[in-house]
Amino acid sequence: MKTLPRITGLGFSVPSQVWDNHKLEKMVDTSDEWIQSRTGIVTRCIAGKKDTTASLASEAALKALDDANCGPLDVDIIIVATMSPEMLFPATACFVQEIIGAKNAAAFDITAACTGFIYGLTLASSMVLSGAAKNVLVIGAETLSRIIDWTDRNTCVLFGDGAGAALVSNEGKGGQIIDSLIGSDGSQADLLYMPGGGSQYPTSEDTVRKRLHFLKMADRGLFKVASVSMANVVNEVLVRNHLAVSDIDLLIPHQANLRIILATAKKLDLNSEKAYVNINKYGNTSAATIPIAMVEARDEGLIAEGKIIVLVAFGSGMTWGATILKY
Ligand code: UT7
Repeated sequence: MKTLPRITGLGFSVPSQVWDNHKLEKMVDTSDEWIQSRTGIVTRCIAGKKDTTASLASEAALKALDDANCGPLDVDIIIVATMSPEMLFPATACFVQEIIGAKNAAAFDITAACTGFIYGLTLASSMVLSGAAKNVLVIGAETLSRIIDWTDRNTCVLFGDGAGAALVSNEGKGGQIIDSLIGSDGSQADLLYMPGGGSQYPTSEDTVRKRLHFLKMADRGLFKVASVSMANVVNEVLVRNHLAVSDIDLLIPHQANLRIILATAKKLDLNSEKAYVNINKYGNTSAATIPIAMVEARDEGLIAEGKIIVLVAFGSGMTWGATILKY
């Protein structure tokens, strides 16, 4: 029987600049009270001039490698999940490869927005299982502050910058990746998107004037889709592994909104205390929320030997996915 891939190292990095809700009160028509009560967010970290998606990703990656006691030359593949890449091309993963000195690695990005880290883990796990790779770095990294419209109160209060990384290996200590399930529904692509700068609306004075180079979000649709798709995918992956919600020791959900997390736990009939929350500190860092939360949950002693941890996310696309880990 093949041994299951393991997450042997974790790390994260956030910019040192912290913005609280009062700072945003001075930028748009909002209030600390509205943001906290509607989203659970208190602060978020915002990239300084020198921070980029690749720099944050590289810091997180080096910490994950150190945690796993693995040298950069032993990395076979680097996958960066991001919707705010260093550039449209080449892949942010190639910049990371150069910064961390992983000269033997293949490097590429995946675009699955907030579900990107789960998509990356799914891919990494399959590559390790098949024998195609021994060590795969999966990094969720974003500088969303660079694609946010800071005049749009509907979106600018929600997001933050940061990166988290996991090393997926064929041997070593760490949580076993039992199974992953991913899905998407392209008919809902207009719920969250950034139209400008691609082949449909190549950058021009007109696209800039129309602010198409900023992230756009539908007002209400996303909230409902989010909790339904996260609860469904968790149930589906549990069932196909003969597990039940009662087997979950800790759910680490994508941190988009505290109310979405609580609604997902309710739909699953999971005690909300088993759903990890740190959105208060970082806001929604898209592909980075789950690996950042994994590090913090582990450091708080919530991820220990014998525990079953379920990761779950949804995001633009729409995309969704869940991963079961056994420690
Ligand atoms: O990772 C995926 C990315 N995004 C998400 O997951 C976001 C998902 N959606 C949400 O988290 C929530 O839908 C929001 C936090 C964006 C909004 O919460 P809501 O419960 O859907 O809002 P609501 O219906 O209670 O309130 C909407 C009202 C609107 O005003 P009117 O039209 O009712 O007068 C907005 O204009 O709240 C207004 N509003 C704000 N007010 C103060 C929207 N943003 C703000 C703001 N400050 N920042």
